[in-house]
Amino acid sequence: MAFFQTLGKANPIVRRALEDPITKERLRYAPFYLPFEKQKGSRVWLNGHEMVMLASNEYLGLSEHPKIIEAGKKAFDQWGSSTTGARISNGSRACHVEIEQKVAQFLGKEDCHVSSAGYISCMSALATFAQRGDLILADKNIHSSLVTGMRLSDARIERFIHNNPGDLQEILATEKPETAKIITFDGIYSMEGHLAPVPELVQLAKTYDCFTVMDDAHGFGVMGPQGRGTAAHYGCTDDIDIISGSFSKALSSIGGFVAGSKPLIEYLRTHSKQTIFSAAITPSQAACASTALDLLQSEPEHLERLWKNTRRMKDLFNRLKLNTWGSETPAIPVVIGNLESAFRFWKALLEKGVFTVLSVSPAVPPGKDLIRTAASARHTDEDFEIIEAAFEYAASQL
Ligand SMILES: Cc1ncc(COP(=O)(O)O)c(C=O)c1O
Repeated sequence: MAFFQTLGKANPIVRRALEDPITKERLRYAPFYLPFEKQKGSRVWLNGHEMVMLASNEYLGLSEHPKIIEAGKKAFDQWGSSTTGARISNGSRACHVEIEQKVAQFLGKEDCHVSSAGYISCMSALATFAQRGDLILADKNIHSSLVTGMRLSDARIERFIHNNPGDLQEILATEKPETAKIITFDGIYSMEGHLAPVPELVQLAKTYDCFTVMDDAHGFGVMGPQGRGTAAHYGCTDDIDIISGSFSKALSSIGGFVAGSKPLIEYLRTHSKQTIFSAAITPSQAACASTALDLLQSEPEHLERLWKNTRRMKDLFNRLKLNTWGSETPAIPVVIGNLESAFRFWKALLEKGVFTVLSVSPAVPPGKDLIRTAASARHTDEDFEIIEAAFEYAASQL
């Protein structure tokens, strides 16, 4: 409370921060920024209580895989703690080139550029290729990284109804053919768990001569054969100009990528401010991501377990008649509908030893306040016993 009692004669910016209603609400409910004291496997410890982690994007459960730990340590010993520079200047290392080739090949693209965060990569995928005078047609629910990128670009922006190619077509039909156009969407929508209707979107891109940018942060490592992503799932890889994504989900590392044809990626290396003026991913994180990529291909059991656990969670939520917003993927929301009830549901789960993420408006549309859960290959039968009991309890309190 002391935080809000220092208003006094603060300048307008400080006053704005002190009076901000969203921050006040966040601090009142306090479900965010909770620091765990310990983590092991699928479990985390908060205030001394052991809990099942049910909201991590670590879909394949690889962050403690011995080969990944070994690769990270080896790179750390070999290269030290940081690149201390951008790729264009002193920050490039042989391991960067190696992982870029690997990711490109895995996705079925010619080239790829890696950065220190998925957010940076996805943002740069739009900020680099779009410019003033262009038109960006964006699904209404795209991730914040794409939104930031398109706003930076100075291009005109039109939003189409989420996952609605018909609405996109109506907008396209009214635009001048000579305008340079980009269609942008997520492969998997992380809050909703929805898959994008990629075949329909790329068909419209062909008809109306549009460039396409897909953020596949949640599809990479999860969808398609061996986890090659949402484009591979649909057999549409060649029809998407740019695929961007993250190493911080299925690959259990940190960093991001932009993949496409060689000329497009070289153009990005010339023009992307996020690339030119930001230090490169550390060799140890690149090594972890690179080893995870190898594991996707040599140990298919992780992906198989992820989908088995996804089905098990969906069955549970269906049995309890919980609203999962039509999720088709391991990112599974439980829509509660209002902040107070969602908060109570989240707390009930916590009480029973399950950690989830509360996601409320404005992060989700009004009336869609939800509990964000994610299945992982890590979850065991014992975890599921705890998860089932916790959701039964929380649902009974609704
Ligand atoms: C769809 C999507 N794109 C991009 C990102 C950014 O990735 P990172 O966390 O690796 O910066 C996220 C992360 O939440 C995401 O969900």
